[in-house]
Amino acid sequence: MSKPIYVLSGPNLNLLGVREPEIYGHQTLDDVKRLCEARAAALGRSVVFRQSNHEGELIDWIQEARTEASAVVINPAGYGHTSVAILDALKAVGVPVIECHLSNPASREAFRRKTYVSLAATGLVSGFGAASYELAVEAAAGLTRPA
Ligand code: DQA
Repeated sequence: MSKPIYVLSGPNLNLLGVREPEIYGHQTLDDVKRLCEARAAALGRSVVFRQSNHEGELIDWIQEARTEASAVVINPAGYGHTSVAILDALKAVGVPVIECHLSNPASREAFRRKTYVSLAATGLVSGFGAASYELAVEAAAGLTRPA
């Protein structure tokens, strides 16, 4: 059995469903978790799904993924635009990284157009709401298909 795909979500994503639903949709983070688990299971894979509002906790999980995960899907939320420390952790993770956003930051305010995480990511899925996570899990599974 291959190692799980870590699906990590950053600050304020615990408020999904009530936070700016016109941008981020009406589905909750629990709904997104179920979608990721179902997509992974359909592909014979599993996910570890976690969210934190704290930069250091996200970094601890990325470091854990070095030995415990086959790939990392990360929606860094606001930290994507600010955190060199998360970028450094991702650069050291040694497994494929897929960046994921519910909205399309490139079509929003100028400060969202730059994400540090992209510098460490194999690819980026954004703009499809909760489906961005499912597509990112699928991409991660494809990149790490057992031989
Ligand atoms: C987000 C986009 C970020 O710009 C924002 O700070 C978020 C959510 C997204 O999923 O669309 O918190 O990562």
